[in-house]
Amino acid sequence: MQFGLLFSSFIYLSIASATLLDLSTSADIGKKILAGNQFDYVVVGGGTAGLAVARRLSDDSSKKVLVLEAGRSGVGDSLVTVPERSFSFIATDIDWLYQTQPQASGQQINLSSGKVLGGDSAVNGLVWSRPHKADWDDFEKLGSPGWNWNNLYASSRKSEKVNIPAANFTAQYGYSVVPASHGSSGPVEASFPPFLPLQHQKLINASVELGHKFNSDPYSGDNTGVWFGLSSQTARNDRETSEFAYFDPVLSRENLIIASHAFVTKLNVTTTSSGASSSGAVVRFPDGSSATAQVKSNGQVILSAGTIRTPQLLELSGIGNKTLLNKFNIPVNVDLPGVGENYEDHTLTILTYKLKPGFLSFDALGYNDTLRKEQQNLYDTQRLGWLTFAQGVLNFESAQSILTSDELATAKELLSTKPASISQESFDLIKNKINNGVPQAEFILFNSFSGGPTKEPNTSYVSMAVTHLHPLSRGSIHINSASIDDHPLIDPNVLDSEWDQWFLAKATAYGRRFFETKAFQEIFDVEVFPGTATQTLDQWKDFVEHNVNIGYHSVGTASLLPQAKNGVVDSNLKVYGTSNIRVVDNSIMPLLVSAHTQTTAYAIAERAADLIKSA
Ligand SMILES: Cc1cc2nc3c(=O)[nH]c(=O)nc-3n(C[C@H](O)[C@H](O)[C@H](O)COP(=O)(O)OP(=O)(O)OC[C@H]3O[C@@H](n4cnc5c(N)ncnc54)[C@H](O)[C@@H]3O)c2cc1C
Ligand SMILES: *[C@@H]1O[C@H](CO)[C@@H](O)[C@H](O)[C@H]1NC(C)=O
Ligand SMILES: *[C@@H]1O[C@H](CO)[C@@H](O)[C@H](O)[C@H]1NC(C)=O
Ligand SMILES: *[C@@H]1O[C@H](CO)[C@@H](O)[C@H](O)[C@H]1NC(C)=O
Ligand SMILES: *[C@@H]1O[C@H](CO)[C@@H](O)[C@H](O)[C@H]1NC(C)=O
Ligand SMILES: *[C@@H]1O[C@H](CO)[C@@H](O)[C@H](O)[C@H]1NC(C)=O
Ligand SMILES: *[C@@H]1O[C@H](CO)[C@@H](O)[C@H](O)[C@H]1NC(C)=O
Ligand SMILES: *[C@@H]1O[C@H](CO)[C@@H](O)[C@H](O)[C@H]1NC(C)=O
Repeated sequence: MQFGLLFSSFIYLSIASATLLDLSTSADIGKKILAGNQFDYVVVGGGTAGLAVARRLSDDSSKKVLVLEAGRSGVGDSLVTVPERSFSFIATDIDWLYQTQPQASGQQINLSSGKVLGGDSAVNGLVWSRPHKADWDDFEKLGSPGWNWNNLYASSRKSEKVNIPAANFTAQYGYSVVPASHGSSGPVEASFPPFLPLQHQKLINASVELGHKFNSDPYSGDNTGVWFGLSSQTARNDRETSEFAYFDPVLSRENLIIASHAFVTKLNVTTTSSGASSSGAVVRFPDGSSATAQVKSNGQVILSAGTIRTPQLLELSGIGNKTLLNKFNIPVNVDLPGVGENYEDHTLTILTYKLKPGFLSFDALGYNDTLRKEQQNLYDTQRLGWLTFAQGVLNFESAQSILTSDELATAKELLSTKPASISQESFDLIKNKINNGVPQAEFILFNSFSGGPTKEPNTSYVSMAVTHLHPLSRGSIHINSASIDDHPLIDPNVLDSEWDQWFLAKATAYGRRFFETKAFQEIFDVEVFPGTATQTLDQWKDFVEHNVNIGYHSVGTASLLPQAKNGVVDSNLKVYGTSNIRVVDNSIMPLLVSAHTQTTAYAIAERAADLIKSA
């Protein structure tokens, strides 16, 4: 898979074959390729959406496509490939490792993100979920024709290949899929894990005891209730990433180059009377030298650097709020104040419970060597057992299903005033969703200890993550200097609105109720975090304020909105005021969805490729 060698000295001027060009080992060849070629498409960021859009654009063999990715390949790295190891990448070489600005409580929240081919798809929790129909329809309602459920559902299915579960696992766990609700021939495989821990199986039973509906068709527009969630893993039970799904199968293409260790420091942008255009991207090599990746005069630069770094690159390239750019002496190419604004993420809290003796979670892999070896062997030889599992049961609930009638009355009051940081249009759409029973809270289990004062030896724990799916607070991500080497200032502004704090407190308190069901009482011992001393609304609010996390589902910093509404890209994903700069990643999502966000990243990429091809 290291293809630097495929380049011999005579073929570098015409691209020889789809190639993973590692600039840390093949800098000279890389420089020759950059010097000797102009590309139809230069894609900045080989992450989830970036590799998907690049692959689709390279379907036309007459187009030369170059992807520039700061990280390395994920091929053969168990940090990436083994489902059970999701989240183990934190603080390794494939983590950008950000930290937010201090939030209202003074807390700075760690924020990890994949610096690797595949981007976040290579490091995420593997949850494969589609939003509620209303969520994608809202993109269009905010003023972007064509960005609705029907079109995005079609794009999402184009990215997907669902694997029908084997009969024995269906019998064992109750898995089922509705084939008509899924793609059957897309690049990204989605499968049920062949191992589902008992506690996750029981989340179905606990939810049903609480009166929640079991949903057997959650992928076609109504994701309400508790359901078996697919994972982005292959039929072989390795993790699926956009690198493995979209790039590896087209290695023989002659018109596609993926450069790794290619750190883009800015775009070359020039402004004329007809607007701004980009002639390419400046790439920094691992040895510190730089070169320009050039696009043809009618070519396109596609920013796919993700919600945190796409606004940074726009600003460093002179596209953003004029006042901010002036502050750092960056020449202004386009005064576009929406860049970096409208940032939002899911907020979540985590409860931790001890399992009764004899019941085990992933914690046991840490203290029981026999188990660890047995499971490693089962995975290595048959791709079965514990290591095939990352996540498997999801529960999405409406406000009505988790709040009492008194609480709903309070909710109505809290929602009578628009918080300052959100637009009137977004606020109205979210209120509609709340009133119409679209999911507002998500309950899932993490199969290990996740927080709390003491972790006892030889003991297994399970955590419940409670997520607020449609927060009202909006933050921002902006540069803090004119250098790419300074992380941008990341301010999610969590819990800024009273509703956000109240609702997350109520949902977190509700989370405890799962553990009071018969189904969970059979296997769970005490609550270790926050612990039963937390009872009143004020106590829950306090817990939420000091322990809030963000869901790794950042969106909005290059929003798909009309320019007059502080938008950054138009409905063709072209940056306002430019002729050939597009954004194709989750930064364009103007509003969060009631789902984990990788399916939307792929859907955006598939739709973007269609729009760009037909432009
Ligand atoms: C820890 C974690 C867990 C998650 N769990 C889930 C989950 O279980 N299910 C789910 O659906 N979603 C999950 N998500 C969210 C989901 O994976 C992301 O929303 C989605 O993958 C984002 O795709 P993207 O294309 O916008 O950005 P990314 O996939 O992040 O791609 C951006 C790429 O650009 C590269 N890049 C950035 N700057 C530069 C530069 N200057 N030069 C060159 N390259 C650059 C990055 O290295 C990266 O590869 C999770 C995310 C994280 C981080
Ligand atoms: C945040 O990350 C730092 C390392 O960058 C680490 O020391 C710290 O423990 C992390 N905090 C949490 C709450 O995980
Ligand atoms: C289920 O069937 C598959 C083949 O279809 C087999 O490989 C696997 O071992 C079986 N698993 C169990 C738990 O029976
Ligand atoms: C869940 O409930 C069903 C129906 O009562 C029961 O058959 C099943 O065994 C339960 N599952 C678990 C994991 O306890
Ligand atoms: C792009 O910008 C870089 C840095 O400002 C500059 O060195 C380079 O010459 C520019 N390249 C082109 C093709 O304009
Ligand atoms: C632009 O940035 C300045 C300085 O940060 C800020 O005061 C102003 O509100 C911003 N403009 C817009 C339209 O967001
Ligand atoms: C450790 O794992 C082995 C193998 O699965 C199992 O037989 C044993 O009971 C476990 N021991 C403990 C203390 O959990
Ligand atoms: C944990 O269990 C192992 C054997 O399974 C034992 O050797 C060890 O002493 C135990 N540790 C504690 C603190 O109980």
